[in-house]
Amino acid sequence: MDFNLKADKAEFIQLLRSTGREGVDDLIEYLDDGRNHFFTAPASVSHHYNNDGGLLRHSLNVCHAALKLRKLVLEDRPDMEHELNEASVIIASLLHDICKADIYIPTRRKSKKQTNGTPIYIDTYNVDYSNFPMGHGEKSAIMALWGGLDITQEELLAIRWHMTAWDLPYQSYELTRSLNTARDLHPLCSLIQLADGVAANLIEHGSKDNSDEF
Ligand SMILES: [Fe+2]
Ligand SMILES: [Fe+2]
Repeated sequence: MDFNLKADKAEFIQLLRSTGREGVDDLIEYLDDGRNHFFTAPASVSHHYNNDGGLLRHSLNVCHAALKLRKLVLEDRPDMEHELNEASVIIASLLHDICKADIYIPTRRKSKKQTNGTPIYIDTYNVDYSNFPMGHGEKSAIMALWGGLDITQEELLAIRWHMTAWDLPYQSYELTRSLNTARDLHPLCSLIQLADGVAANLIEHGSKDNSDEF
C-alpha cells in the first residue's frame, strides 16, 4: 500500500499542534532525529501497513477512530467531556506506537518467487530492539517524555496500556492490577485501546502485502 508521506506528516504535525501543548515541536524533531524514523517507518514487518509510512498512517487512523469514538461516547455521556478531553485523545492516539520509530532496519532479501529461475530480491525490514529494549507501551510513554512533550499522567497511562492484556505477563499480579486501575481511573485508556483495535483490525483490514507469499 502506498501512502502520501508528505500529506500524512503535515496532518500529524497539524493535529499535534492543535492541542496547544508545550513541547510539540521538540517532540516532532525528536521523532525524526536520525536514530528515530517515525515518519517513514512501517507499522510492522509482516502484518498491517508493512511498508514506508505505515506507522505514521496507522497513528493517524487510530487518531481518527479515537476522535469518532469520543464523539459517539459523548452523545450518551456528555458528562465525560472532561475525562475524554480532545487534546488528550489526540496526543495519546498519535503517540501510542512511537516505540516503533527506531526498530525497523531496511534490508533486501531473496523472494520465495523467481522469474525464469532468476532470483527476485525484495525490500523489507529487519527488526532490532537494541536501541532501547524497554517493551512496547512503556517505551512509547518514555519516548514522549524524552521528546520533551508536556504530557499528562492519564495520557501516559493510555499510551502505556494501549495493548491492554495482550501486553501483560499474566503471572504478574501487580501489572494486572495496574492495568485495571488505570482503566478504572481514566476512560481515556479504554478509548485508545478500542481505537487501536478498530484501526488495526478493521480500517487496515486486508492491507497486508501478500505479494511474496504462495
Ligand atoms: Fe501498539
Ligand atoms: Fe497501534
